[in-house]
Amino acid sequence: MTNSISNSEDAQRLNAIINTATDGIIIINHEGMIESVNPSAATLFDYGTKEMIGQNISLLTPSPHKEKHDNYLQNYLSTGIKKIIGIGREVNGQRKDGSLFPLRLSISEVKLANRVIFTGILHDLSKEKAQAEKIKKLNQELEKRIEERTDDLGEVVNKLLATNKQLQQEIKDRKAAEKGLRFKEKETRSALLKERELSDMKSRFVTMASHEFRTPLSSILTSAELLELHLAAGRHEKCPKNIERIKNSVNHLTSVLNEFLSLSKLEMNNIKAAPISFVFDEFAQQLIENLRPILKQGQNIQYEGIGKSESVYLDRAFLNHTLINLLSNAIKYSKEHQVIFFTTKINQTNLTISIKDNGIGIPEQDQKHLFGRFFRAHNVENIQGTGLGLNIVKKYVDLMGGTITFSSKLGKGATFTIQIPLIKQ
Ligand SMILES: Nc1ncnc2c1ncn2[C@@H]1O[C@H](COP(=O)(O)OP(=O)(O)OP(=O)(O)O)[C@@H](O)[C@H]1O
Ligand SMILES: [Mg+2]
Repeated sequence: MTNSISNSEDAQRLNAIINTATDGIIIINHEGMIESVNPSAATLFDYGTKEMIGQNISLLTPSPHKEKHDNYLQNYLSTGIKKIIGIGREVNGQRKDGSLFPLRLSISEVKLANRVIFTGILHDLSKEKAQAEKIKKLNQELEKRIEERTDDLGEVVNKLLATNKQLQQEIKDRKAAEKGLRFKEKETRSALLKERELSDMKSRFVTMASHEFRTPLSSILTSAELLELHLAAGRHEKCPKNIERIKNSVNHLTSVLNEFLSLSKLEMNNIKAAPISFVFDEFAQQLIENLRPILKQGQNIQYEGIGKSESVYLDRAFLNHTLINLLSNAIKYSKEHQVIFFTTKINQTNLTISIKDNGIGIPEQDQKHLFGRFFRAHNVENIQGTGLGLNIVKKYVDLMGGTITFSSKLGKGATFTIQIPLIKQ
């Protein structure tokens, strides 16, 4: 250390320590004048040690501290308030060429016998600062890259989300399409089934008709031949009976055809009730009148009812067809001289009609199939019929929003009851 201390052994050792210290050491007096400097301090500031001694410490301090340094020292000496002494802080030093560098400065006050000096230890922070700066820079770069990555990731996530959304929409669309297809398939299948049923029904009808038509057709032929013979022989009184037979057979054929036609129409689902207002009693009287020709010997229809002179608002043709079928069954499946009861009840809300006969009745095991198409009970083999009448009746009653029920015992007759709700016009 360059100074003016005399060389005792202690002082020599101290000198050696100070001279080899890697930190800079500077000693100033109470006026801020540099008294000693170690080589490290000189190197730090790029001065020669001798150049520094005797200079004011402000030589090494950059503005604005340079100008204030004397004040700092004076302030401390007069107030005793320590701003840096014994505390240490980071400051900038100024090299000989004016350039600045960071250093950690710790100052201690040394009280000698008759004066005060200050020792400053200066640790160069350039490398650490540079390191810290580098780390900071690296950190910033890293952050930037992370940010970029995050942005990229965000973009990817957004893209994924959009794709996901698109996929979900596609799945939804596909499901809807599938549902539509399934529905269409169901529709087509049911249409096909209906078509098949209809064609099945038609072929059954052809079989039934060929069988059903044979009797009336041969009856017509026989009657016509007899008519020819009677006319040729002048037996005019015998003619009306044969003419009547021909008429009956033709009527029967017509009714079979009509039944089939109305069933086809009903099956196609293109028929709807067209209600009109009419007085029930007039309608019933006419119906009975029309059925008179098919009554067997001694049969009659006993008609009575509550509220029968009321007006009803219904599809007249549907009701007509329904009752013709039920009454002609009652006639057909009863014997000569048996009475058929036709009872009606009309109130504000319902029209109830029951048709009761004392005929052959319906075997119990056949009852559950009675409304089925082409179904005929086992006890009617010798009586003409197609097995379509009740099937059609049920459909008409349904179309009018009503119900049909029956009760019967074999050999004890049958009672069919229909109930139809009445709506106001
Ligand atoms: N009043 C009744 N008494 C006894 N059996 C009946 C009566 N009404 C219907 N049936 C039974 O129900 C079956 C079905 O009747 P439905 O009217 O549908 O056909 P059908 O009378 O045989 O033929 P169609 O009426 O087509 O000429 C009949 O074959 C018969 O066995
Ligand atoms: Mg019938």
